[in-house]
Amino acid sequence: MRLLQNNTRHNRNAEKSNFSSRYFKWILWFSLSFYFFGTFLITHNKPTTSISRSTFSQTKASRALIEESYPNSSLLQHAQNPQDILKRLKVYVYDLPSKYNTDWLSNERCSSHLFASEVAIHKILMNNNDVRTLDPWEADFFYVPVYVSCNFSTINGFPAIGHARSLISSAIQLVSSEFPFWNQSRGSDHVFVASHDFGSCFHTLEDVAVADGVPEFLRNSIILQTFGVKYKHPCQEVENVVIPPYVSPESVRTTLKKSPLNGRRDILAFFRGKMELHPKNVSGRFYSKRVRTQIWQKYGNDRRFYLRRQRYAGYQSEILRSTFCLCPLGWAPWSPRIVESVVLGCVPVIIADDIRLPFPSAVPWAEISLTVAEKDVARLGDILGHVAATNLTSIQRKLWDPNVRNALLFNDPMVEGDATWQIMVALSHKLDRSHKMARSFNQ
Ligand SMILES: *[C@@H]1O[C@H](CO)[C@@H](O)[C@H](O)[C@H]1NC(C)=O
Ligand SMILES: *[C@@H]1O[C@H](CO)[C@@H](O)[C@H](O)[C@H]1NC(C)=O
Ligand SMILES: *[C@@H]1O[C@H](CO)[C@@H](O)[C@H](O)[C@H]1NC(C)=O
Ligand SMILES: *[C@@H]1O[C@H](CO)[C@@H](O)[C@H](O)[C@H]1NC(C)=O
Ligand SMILES: *[C@@H]1O[C@H](CO)[C@@H](O)[C@H](O)[C@H]1NC(C)=O
Repeated sequence: MRLLQNNTRHNRNAEKSNFSSRYFKWILWFSLSFYFFGTFLITHNKPTTSISRSTFSQTKASRALIEESYPNSSLLQHAQNPQDILKRLKVYVYDLPSKYNTDWLSNERCSSHLFASEVAIHKILMNNNDVRTLDPWEADFFYVPVYVSCNFSTINGFPAIGHARSLISSAIQLVSSEFPFWNQSRGSDHVFVASHDFGSCFHTLEDVAVADGVPEFLRNSIILQTFGVKYKHPCQEVENVVIPPYVSPESVRTTLKKSPLNGRRDILAFFRGKMELHPKNVSGRFYSKRVRTQIWQKYGNDRRFYLRRQRYAGYQSEILRSTFCLCPLGWAPWSPRIVESVVLGCVPVIIADDIRLPFPSAVPWAEISLTVAEKDVARLGDILGHVAATNLTSIQRKLWDPNVRNALLFNDPMVEGDATWQIMVALSHKLDRSHKMARSFNQ
């Protein structure tokens, strides 16, 4: 509860500082008003000695001035340069009690596994003084830092996400009772991360995820999620931004120190991971829609393919030795392999029909990867052979562009063009959801 009290105190301080900044703005507006509408003001609006916002906002002429001095969201949206947008974008990060987030960090895996973008984005924002604001009144967006993917099962090591809905719901209860902002916008300018299989449906199995859907309390908000498909799907029926799965930038840098991107690649096609020989029928669905099983059956003994079913900590160096890296679907279409392949310069071979990939305006996916339809997986050998003989060099040249790699990594601190930066650009295109403008009129 101590943290809560801090929250409240901080909130009051913020209100105070906001009050003084408004006071100055008011003086500015007043001087301008006086200059342009002096006569109007004197005849229609008796000069007041106390500064009252409501009297002020009743003055039509002054309101017009406010609108002139505050460019509206569509103007911001059409600004040409993303750097200019980011100079103005402000995100407030709620200071939640540690049971919602940092308590989970006692498990080291929490900040490094494939779902760890929920941790990374929080840390990066906390470390950032350009986009992050300490004054919630000037925020365009509100980031709600709840870590839901860190309750690792002691049996299989997978995160149990059964508590996700109740933990997030409780965080919303808290911020909506302590601060006015959730109620003002009904959550439309609040941002959450849902980085596991089916985003904010919070279940690993698609049929259960679909049946549960996105919880009511999140439906009006913005979800940063790894899950994305090109067709209508109940787990993306919410404003969302597809983000890359988390791959530690340090681990990538360490791997690249051992061998350069354009070094010798002696493996033609690589895959390491779960490949079930006889996938079980789990309520009508088979793991990877049996795609991985087909790969193993058809290419397990093919010398061009380096396929391994066991875990191996040094797999990144194998990626660095490979020309093509297979990225077949698992339960969900997305996979951390897509990011690892790109950042380690191995051409990703995406086998996940209709997947929606992160940051398409920054990453020219069609030019740096191959897409093989799930039904064509038995033709992989021919397809890869053909590409290797024809346009491989041009694909690699585009793939090895440092900007492409940068866009998929969550660097801390944030650097221009990286994954967090791309998220901020995506948010800046959603400023029409922000309640900031309305606040400055109605307060
Ligand atoms: C925002 O600006 C655009 C372009 O100037 C204008 O057409 C639009 O009406 C404005 N919207 C609001 C809500 O003021
Ligand atoms: C973590 O998951 C286990 C099941 O694996 C569950 O019993 C426990 O309640 C969960 N912990 C929290 C804090 O939700
Ligand atoms: C927001 O609305 C809820 C539900 O109506 C209410 O309980 C809560 O007190 C409100 N929060 C604030 C800060 O007024
Ligand atoms: C998988 O199991 C479901 C029942 O859960 C059954 O209806 C379906 O026919 C099975 N599919 C196959 C291919 O065996
Ligand atoms: C490379 O060639 C294949 C097969 O001809 C084609 O499908 C693919 O679009 C080409 N890729 C690029 C990036 O040019």
